[in-house]
Amino acid sequence: MSKQTDILIFDTTLRDGEQSPGATMSHVEKLEIADLLDEMGVDIIEAGFPIASEGDFEAVRAIACKTKVASICGLARANFSDIDRCWEAVRLARRPRIHTFIGTSPLHRAIPNLTMDEMAEKINQTVTYARNLCDDVQWSPMDATRTEQDYLCRVIEIAIKAGATTINIPDTVGYTAPTESSNLIAMLLDKVPGADSIVFATHCHNDLGMATANSLAAVEAGARQIECTINGLGERAGNTALEEVVMATKVRSDILPYRTRIDSTKLMNISRRVATISGFPVQFNKAIVGKNAFAHESGIHQDGMLKNSKTFEIMRPADVGLSDTNLVLGKHSGRAALRSKLTDLGYEIGDNKLKDIFVRFKALADRKKEIFDDDLIALMIDQSSSEESDRIQVKSLKVVCGTGGPSTSELTLIVDGKEKAVKAIGDGPVDAAFNAVNSIISHTARLQLYQVHAVTEGTDAQAIVSVKMEENGKISTGESADTDTVVASTKAYVNALNRLLIRRQKVGLDIADISYKDAS
Ligand code: KIV
Ligand code: ZN
Repeated sequence: MSKQTDILIFDTTLRDGEQSPGATMSHVEKLEIADLLDEMGVDIIEAGFPIASEGDFEAVRAIACKTKVASICGLARANFSDIDRCWEAVRLARRPRIHTFIGTSPLHRAIPNLTMDEMAEKINQTVTYARNLCDDVQWSPMDATRTEQDYLCRVIEIAIKAGATTINIPDTVGYTAPTESSNLIAMLLDKVPGADSIVFATHCHNDLGMATANSLAAVEAGARQIECTINGLGERAGNTALEEVVMATKVRSDILPYRTRIDSTKLMNISRRVATISGFPVQFNKAIVGKNAFAHESGIHQDGMLKNSKTFEIMRPADVGLSDTNLVLGKHSGRAALRSKLTDLGYEIGDNKLKDIFVRFKALADRKKEIFDDDLIALMIDQSSSEESDRIQVKSLKVVCGTGGPSTSELTLIVDGKEKAVKAIGDGPVDAAFNAVNSIISHTARLQLYQVHAVTEGTDAQAIVSVKMEENGKISTGESADTDTVVASTKAYVNALNRLLIRRQKVGLDIADISYKDAS
């Protein structure tokens, strides 16, 4: 095999990914994702934006203290207080990094109303300041791909002289295309004095669907760090998907001779965890980690696959951590079989959690003859969407619906440890159930999206329900699964309300008074 060049993987799921409206993650969830990223072999984890909130700061600091191998990076704008706060959050990491940025394109320069010279001086001062605190400093000219090239060269040279060790080239609005992306890196390497002493990074957004192609094109021209997120999570159309660049370099190492440290067999698991935690489901036909990425539906494909799997498969499901078999479990399956299946699916769980899951599994098996992989994943989604620490929990629900008249619901919630029971009516069973929740919990959040999909075939299939709610411009998502669609819907709605409370806490709002009517 020809010589391979090492590429650094910089994951920003917890920063740029979490910035995606609605992708709220709790402190514990962020720590779990950071752990999975580290175990998978990510080189640098951008853990958050420490000055953004107390919650962000605490999460970055906890990840910095806990992470074993990866460098831990925090984001800071171009000012001393941002940089101080960032350093405070990352400094206990084994390998701390400060990432500071400023928008350099004409549109971005106009916002702080700085001249080119004033901005250049600000870059000099802030990068110097960061480098005096930390040996590993990354600097980004935001909107680099729409910045005048002469000016871009000038400010990058200043940042290198001031001590930046990595220069990141963000395509902030997903505007570039592959040839332009590689030409830009080649030009910078050629023209900027000192460019050979630092690492160039590529940071692409996917607005035109070219983020992966643009990242790989930048690498071909000499970039040695790819910035990406799991499932391509990120604002608008998202960021470069980590799983795509990793598998592209693995599968096409003949023409893309680049090597990452990523253990690709861990991709599927982390993809599922990020989807569940962020509330952003992975589209079925998503490359590498979509439900259909390895499914062969048509007769011709199935015939070819049976004769020789290479006819229609360029990578094996096991390469990304998908078990080859969709082994069916049933009500006679024991705890050991359940644990082994969950381990295959990437869920490592302790004995206590297994006990809980086993009870839920048995209940599901009583209702549903065969339990497939997707049923177990749905069960795990449901499990993680309801925590004992949730302030609002669904205790019981009964709904009567049918032709001729409004549906009625009887709901009991546990709110801050107290039982609240209520009856409500509605236009259909889901409306009646949501009205019942609303008559116990008063809130001003607006339901923006309500989505149901069946996990497997058959009328006894579990339904996964996703909801999205909006309150004062802040989005919160919820998910749940059950063979009863109305129960799943109610739990998903309550899950979103619980996340809304976490979000309120994050922005420093008082959460002490979620008001509820005393309906018991
Ligand atoms: O897209 C972008 O420009 C960013 C910067 C903060 C690096 O995320
Ligand atoms: Zn970005």
